[in-house]
Amino acid sequence: MPADYASILADIAERVKQRDFQTARNADYIPALAAVPGDRFAMVIRDVNGAEYSTGDADIPFSIQSVSKVFALVLALRSCGEELWQAVRREPSGSAFNSLILLEQEEGIPRNPFINAGAIRVCDMISSRFANPDRSVAEFLGRLSGNPDIRADNDVYLSEDQHGNRNRAIAYLMKSFEKLDNPVEAVVRTYFKQCAIAMSAREMARATLFLANQGIGIDGNMVLSPAETRRINALMLTCGMYDGVGDFAFSVGIPAKSGVGGAIIGVIPGEFSVCVWSPRLDARGNSAAGIAALEMLIEAIGRSVF
Ligand code: DON
Repeated sequence: MPADYASILADIAERVKQRDFQTARNADYIPALAAVPGDRFAMVIRDVNGAEYSTGDADIPFSIQSVSKVFALVLALRSCGEELWQAVRREPSGSAFNSLILLEQEEGIPRNPFINAGAIRVCDMISSRFANPDRSVAEFLGRLSGNPDIRADNDVYLSEDQHGNRNRAIAYLMKSFEKLDNPVEAVVRTYFKQCAIAMSAREMARATLFLANQGIGIDGNMVLSPAETRRINALMLTCGMYDGVGDFAFSVGIPAKSGVGGAIIGVIPGEFSVCVWSPRLDARGNSAAGIAALEMLIEAIGRSVF
């Protein structure tokens, strides 16, 4: 019998409301994110048969931040193919998402496409291949989610730009190793625009469905081959939650990707995609209520990818 997702989600929302996430805080190094009400919560499941279940603030747009890195990677892979793996590696970093330490030690080649260095390099590849790189990820997400109006929030973009010195440092370090093809300022602008995209949890669950459905999106079109889809899921499982990835695999056990706007996307291949959003973050930059909600979901359905 299929799980009763509607009542599971209602129960999760109720339990999350009763939990105290007071030690968790909105991201404040991007000031526009600090202003979002911290008690917002949304969770949406989209199953491979087209059914959708939601609870909470499912239609309120949030800043997708690093969740965008999955979609930028898919977009770049579609145009570069295997060549992309010469530019970024596929190993967990074990350090913070915006760390420069390994990048110096490993001569400007990022550990994986989901830390900031890797995502900036992916933006560089997008910049070389798309006529309008600043819009390319938003347009892609518009097609995947069925809402062509998806775009970057300009306040968040300006906030990222004004507080983006660490990302610029990462990009300049890669440039110094001659590992960035395009000018630093153009590449970080594309990166900030992609992180500043605003979407709702419902739109995000829809856009993520192809990762649960062997590469087929909500409109029935193929986004990625089944083999490449499995690889993206493997990367999310090993690198999607930064230095919290081991704990997350242990306690939840699904491929997932987080962002400092408080969103987490995840999939159980063959079953469903899920997006949970709540802005307060734990010490590693992952949504505290989001992780708790995903733990509750896995406990309720009694299975993960393991
Ligand atoms: O570049 C940054 O730091 C942010 N725009 C995105 C970081 C992020 O979402 C990392 N996620 N946990």
